[in-house]
Amino acid sequence: MSAAIPTPRGLPIVGNGLQVPVEGTHRFFADLAAQNPGGLFKLNLAGRHVIFVYDPDLVAEVCDESRFYKPIDPPLAHVRDFAGDGLFTARGEEEVWGQAHRILLPAFSQRSMKAYFPQMLEVATDLVRAWEARGEVDVSDDMTRLALDTITLAGFGQAFKSFDKPELHPFLQAMGNALTEAMNRTRQLPVVTGLKRRADAAYRADIAVMQETVDEVIRVRRASGEKANDLLGLMLDATDPVTGEALSDENIRNQVLTFLIAGHETTSGTLSFALHLLLRNPHVLAQAYAEVDRMLPGDTVPTYETIMKLDVIPRILDETLRLLSPIPGIGLASRKATTLAGKYEIPAHQKIAVLMKPLHTDPAAWPDPEAFDIDRWLPERKATHHPHAYKPFGNGERACIGRQFALTEARLALAMLLRRFAISDPAGYQLQIKQTLTIKPEGFRLRVRVRQDHE
Ligand code: HEM
Repeated sequence: MSAAIPTPRGLPIVGNGLQVPVEGTHRFFADLAAQNPGGLFKLNLAGRHVIFVYDPDLVAEVCDESRFYKPIDPPLAHVRDFAGDGLFTARGEEEVWGQAHRILLPAFSQRSMKAYFPQMLEVATDLVRAWEARGEVDVSDDMTRLALDTITLAGFGQAFKSFDKPELHPFLQAMGNALTEAMNRTRQLPVVTGLKRRADAAYRADIAVMQETVDEVIRVRRASGEKANDLLGLMLDATDPVTGEALSDENIRNQVLTFLIAGHETTSGTLSFALHLLLRNPHVLAQAYAEVDRMLPGDTVPTYETIMKLDVIPRILDETLRLLSPIPGIGLASRKATTLAGKYEIPAHQKIAVLMKPLHTDPAAWPDPEAFDIDRWLPERKATHHPHAYKPFGNGERACIGRQFALTEARLALAMLLRRFAISDPAGYQLQIKQTLTIKPEGFRLRVRVRQDHE
């Protein structure tokens, strides 16, 4: 027998659309999840009916790629204005998604990370130097600079050196503005977007700055004939093993922009949240200090091999991504009419959103779900996890291609920061979350002191 999906009461026509707050959207959805313990609910967002899913067994069903696919809806449909048919915003049916995915997959394998390690180290060292010169730091801002400098240097050979100046490079400012406008467009009715001429002109100008900057990087690289061992070099040279096709310059530009967009807020949010959670959990912070002192004594220069041998730091990152996943949800849609949990009938192309926070704190899958317990990630306990209760990197073929890149960069940065600095939070920061395409802490400042044994 079919069952009705719980649907909070809404207003005529706009449905629940006006109930969703502009600020704190992720909190609103998490509260609704708490009020609907059955693992799903449905909202009518001004005519767009979306089913929100967070029970691990239901998530297992919607992650079945033979039944569900990733649609490109807002906000991704707006990000597509500048990331085009890059991997993140390409539609599954676009042939170029498969070509780029096959060409780029080897460049993001764990083995390839060794090649990017010197650049990751260079930028992490810039961050440590910048913190040495300051007593107090704006965490999210510095982590964003770290993530952007790392992907631009390791991926495309461009040294932005963001820690050297207070202002971000014009390219990075244009990207930040365009992302903000894409999120504004997601929240406003298309007719309102159409009326905001000035915002539209600024948006187009920002997109032009981004595209022209990257086109110039590609032109210069092609003209130099240089065979660099980075993402750009690979994209310029490689052909798809299946179709034999190379990527067009326009698609390469879209991929470059995609890696910058997909790779910076997520990694920086993870590192910022990790530092916040460490301050709230001093016993874990003490374990992290002990590990970096043991593995990276004195001024030892970290090697790729040492970073791969860390144990506590990776578990801190796994647990951070569980409690505070920077991507608060992923969008899916049904290929055909189907039934969920054997009782909820849904039509073809039904929009679904998987909610990370409620999924990652589901009490049946996670004992003591709100506790920051890095021992959940010890191999013997990891083996008992529900296979679909943890999705910070998304799902299936459309899961994050940059996962190993992000984790290698984050392990290295966290290890180098904790090796050098004692961190404290005298103001007792209360977590405030800012939501754009991702979530990250807002106004999070830390006091940093060079650790006594390092003076
Ligand atoms: C896709 C999370 C870092 C590149 C995704 C998705 C998630 C995610 C959840 C799936 C989105 C969806 O289904 O719509 C994260 C997190 C990161 C991270 C939590 C850091 C901790 C990175 C980095 C890069 C990157 C560093 C690039 C260097 C991408 C790309 C896709 C993607 C290209 C689209 C893949 C495709 O559809 O083919 N990421 N990401 N990400 N990510 Fe990441």
